[in-house]
Amino acid sequence: MAEPKKVKIMETVLRDGHQSLCATRMRYRQMEPMLASLDEIGYKALEAWGGATFDTCLRFLDEDPWERLDKLKANLKKTPIQMLLRGQNLLGYNHYSNDVVEKFVKCASKHGIGVFRIFDALNDVNNLRVAIKAALEAPEKPEVQGCLVYTISPVHGNDVFVKLAKELKDMGCHSICIKDMSGLLAPYIAYDLVTKLKAELGDTPVELHTHCTSGFGHATYIKAIEAGVDIIDCALSPFSCDTSQPCTETILAMFEGSKHEQVDIPAVVVNARDESKTLDRQALTPIAKHFLGVKKELIEEFGLKGYFDVNPNVLDFQIPGGMLSNLTNQLKEAGMEDKYQDLLDEMPRVRKDAGYPPLVTPSSQIVGTMATYNVAYGRYVAAPKEFKDLVRGKFGRTPVPVDRDFITNTLKIPADQIIEDCSVEDAKATTFEQFKAEIIDKGFLNPTDEDVLSYALFPQVAEEFFKKHYKPITAYKR
Ligand code: CO
Repeated sequence: MAEPKKVKIMETVLRDGHQSLCATRMRYRQMEPMLASLDEIGYKALEAWGGATFDTCLRFLDEDPWERLDKLKANLKKTPIQMLLRGQNLLGYNHYSNDVVEKFVKCASKHGIGVFRIFDALNDVNNLRVAIKAALEAPEKPEVQGCLVYTISPVHGNDVFVKLAKELKDMGCHSICIKDMSGLLAPYIAYDLVTKLKAELGDTPVELHTHCTSGFGHATYIKAIEAGVDIIDCALSPFSCDTSQPCTETILAMFEGSKHEQVDIPAVVVNARDESKTLDRQALTPIAKHFLGVKKELIEEFGLKGYFDVNPNVLDFQIPGGMLSNLTNQLKEAGMEDKYQDLLDEMPRVRKDAGYPPLVTPSSQIVGTMATYNVAYGRYVAAPKEFKDLVRGKFGRTPVPVDRDFITNTLKIPADQIIEDCSVEDAKATTFEQFKAEIIDKGFLNPTDEDVLSYALFPQVAEEFFKKHYKPITAYKR
């Protein structure tokens, strides 16, 4: 038998786990007691920072996200901290000017981000260029990972993703991640995709990120591992499964085999710092116990449900779980509950008209709202601004070019508003110095670069936070 394939685990308990199951509400103090233990495990990385964690820190938890990152870094001396970055959108919903993107990446790297996982909702590589370059140039030499945002459509075969992966590698990415945010990637499709990526990318590591939303999760990881995937993203048991990642301990147990049966197991989950050692499942037990307690606290304090039903229908609608419940509410409020099925039927049609964007923040909300308008007022009688922006190219190239006649006749958008190259628009976006001047104008003197970046990303929320913590002369004490 050949040597078993060595697989590593990236742990999501500090980010996607509680984002998926507990509305991103985990506080730093609930993480702290376990950081030293997590650091000892031998994970490939610990994901701990991203758009929602940054936003909820300021909005709900009264924590400075930069300060949280500093504390994480101080306690995680061996394991790289990973963040999720939306390319030219950074952590927000709009495109930022290049200097804001560069400044943000530089600052995040300085504060201790060791792995930048960078994606664009439309898989438009032009939206990734500035962020990737900035991360590659950071003096701390972080790992730069490019993402394939996975989706299903008539124009998204595995070959399209392989081509995109090669482009990302050519741009200098150190590793490639298949980002399957809605859990759409089926086991045998994953086997084919990973096989093709491994054949094309040579030594470049391939990582797989999925969710258990449709119920595929663990099975998809097994087939991906059989095809040679290098890293899989898992969450410790209390924050795993349902709409979150497959469970870390379960995956470890699968590859341990059994003392009582002699069977060949094709892979082994190794310690990322010493590949001669396997990951120690027993060492995870006390950590999981702690986070089970944290989960109970979060459910109690924020009135959360803490679990979600597995929903294989996501494969047909491709509406991420959280969004499905939002749409149901919107229909209810509009007194159109009986139109639920119409809305589900309308989604794929709108997505086709918009050039088959993958449905991930912010494209999922944009397509969903357009579909709701169509069901409520008749097809394209009215259209939200964001939908017009999407089809006229403001957020970049859609996977399939949107039909011109649809843009100018159906949606009545003047032809001169169609954007061929959105980087021209990005160049007109607010600069770092302009954001800084705005804060000072509002009376917060001497803001740090970090304050300016928080404000650029979430202006109202950051301003409220500054008001609470402002100390004359030093802006506020960090
Ligand atoms: Co995810």
